[in-house]
Amino acid sequence: MAFTFFFRDEHVLNLVAKQVLPELAGFSRIKFWDAGCAMGPEPYTLAIICAENMGKFSFRNLAITASDIDESGEFGSIIQQGRYRGEEVKRIQKDIFERYFTTTETDDIYLIDPLIRDSVKYQQHDLLSMKSIGSGFHMVLCKNVLLHFTPEQRVSVIRMFYDSLAPGGYFCTEQTQKMPDELNHLFDRVTDDGQLFRKK
Ligand SMILES: C[S@@+](CC[C@H](N)C(=O)[O-])C[C@H]1O[C@@H](n2cnc3c(N)ncnc32)[C@H](O)[C@@H]1O
Repeated sequence: MAFTFFFRDEHVLNLVAKQVLPELAGFSRIKFWDAGCAMGPEPYTLAIICAENMGKFSFRNLAITASDIDESGEFGSIIQQGRYRGEEVKRIQKDIFERYFTTTETDDIYLIDPLIRDSVKYQQHDLLSMKSIGSGFHMVLCKNVLLHFTPEQRVSVIRMFYDSLAPGGYFCTEQTQKMPDELNHLFDRVTDDGQLFRKK
């Protein structure tokens, strides 16, 4: 169930870079929540895309809270260490890989750049508790998670995301995930070619 990989759903993350990040330039604190983050490739991909598009100064103001129910109990330490096997990083574009990963003394283990690593903080959290981890988020990213829930649970979880967002904040999900009809009045869809929504 925790299947994930670096640069998954890159299309919608590039929409975030184009649509969301320019609006946040100049903010002293930028808060993103990555809900259902698995072992870290997703929040680290988001952080790398932000680093590539925001400039060094703004990037330092970015705080990504990555959460997962994590039945293994291991995601926190994997994410905190930012160490990944060659198998997990081999598909990353060469120039990006060279900018954000370094080799280690352990064979076939690569370490994510400390600046990227420090922008992500992990927290264990069950979305079905329907309790948010915080408020005032500028974006909630939740990909390939909602499909595991019932339609009723999906509505309640997205409503909880809505309440967790700052005014005008964004909700981003995978291409095949549709906004439930009951919630259409809460969000504007930002673009026809991606599942990026803005809180009304
Ligand atoms: C298929 S993975 C997707 C990972 C990542 N978002 C991606 O797109 O690559 C689904 C993740 O959702 C998490 N998950 C499932 N039920 C959850 C829940 N109730 N609360 C929080 N996370 C949950 C799983 O532990 C798993 O890491």
